[in-house]
Amino acid sequence: MTRIGVAGLGHWGPNLARNFSELAELTWLCDSEPERRDIASRYTQAKFTSSFDEMLEDPNLDAVVVATPVPTHFDLARRALEAGKHVLVEKPPAMKGHEMDELVALASERDLVLMPGHLLLYHPGVRRVKDMIAAGELGDVLCVYGNRQNLGIIRSNENALWSLGVHDLSVILYLLDEDPAEANAFGRDFLTSGVEDVVFCYLRFPSGKIAHMHLSWLDPHKMRKITVVGTEKMVVFDDMELERKVTVYEKAPWRPSDRYGEWQTRTGDIFSPRIASDEPLKLECIEFLRLVSGEGDRQKVATDGARVVRALDMLTTSLHGG
Ligand SMILES: NC(=O)c1ccc[n+]([C@@H]2O[C@H](COP(=O)([O-])OP(=O)(O)OC[C@H]3O[C@@H](n4cnc5c(N)ncnc54)[C@H](O)[C@@H]3O)[C@@H](O)[C@H]2O)c1
Repeated sequence: MTRIGVAGLGHWGPNLARNFSELAELTWLCDSEPERRDIASRYTQAKFTSSFDEMLEDPNLDAVVVATPVPTHFDLARRALEAGKHVLVEKPPAMKGHEMDELVALASERDLVLMPGHLLLYHPGVRRVKDMIAAGELGDVLCVYGNRQNLGIIRSNENALWSLGVHDLSVILYLLDEDPAEANAFGRDFLTSGVEDVVFCYLRFPSGKIAHMHLSWLDPHKMRKITVVGTEKMVVFDDMELERKVTVYEKAPWRPSDRYGEWQTRTGDIFSPRIASDEPLKLECIEFLRLVSGEGDRQKVATDGARVVRALDMLTTSLHGG
């Protein structure tokens, strides 16, 4: 059994601790705030510490999960890799492309797993959309766009691009499997100076595909949706739906008509395939343990994570007028 330590027991960390207590041996829980010891009392087999280094010094610990605030990720992930531990680090693992490259190189040198916690990549609905694209069912993909809007949670330390956009960006790059050639972001900090609450992003890829993201916590709609437009079919992943997570539209451009140079379109069935209701976080944890055990491609998961950080870096530069 892989021995795991979880650092960061705020809102999200306890979900990771719960899953790893069921799937592996949860031997350490760590939070710099000693009062988080309360959460640790649920797991009597795990030791609690407020010192990340004390946890890393345990030679029997195989892997560390980092669920602390984003600005701490790079430093903690680097220290864990240097101590010879595999790392699952919440998204994004670093705030700069060059920092992520350093983590990827360190993991590769030491043959350790460096996996970013991009939850949606383990969602059975997103996997289904990826399979459809890979099988050519949509024809050629032309464009992808994400909507992640809501009224709140209004954050004061992370902008909408970093807080919300990282989810859609990870999915868009996973579906298209390309680095963007161009990434532009436009937004405004209406409520808190310097923290953009409404952000629009445009990405263009070397293949000619384009993508867009609307990210906002000042919006009447609660949306968590990705739309993929292909030349044969179109598909929507809607995480707000309970049952119809994926809807396939047999709608497409067809052929130029004889009149006025207009295009005729084709419309067929609209249907929702059955999507397994497995908890994406559990699937993410299982994938991490699989990589730690030597199965799968540990290099790819790290380099795919680097692609997301590079794109976030490009979008942030653009957002701030660079
Ligand atoms: N994948 C998802 O869907 C998802 C959802 C929510 C949060 N997250 C991510 O999880 C991370 C944590 O978010 P949260 O909402 O739980 O934050 P939070 O602020 O509620 O909790 C963070 C915890 O980390 C602790 N901490 C800070 N520095 C530390 C250090 N050096 N060593 C040990 N503990 C330290 C804090 O005391 C706090 O208890 C973030 O990266 C966030 O983006 C992911």
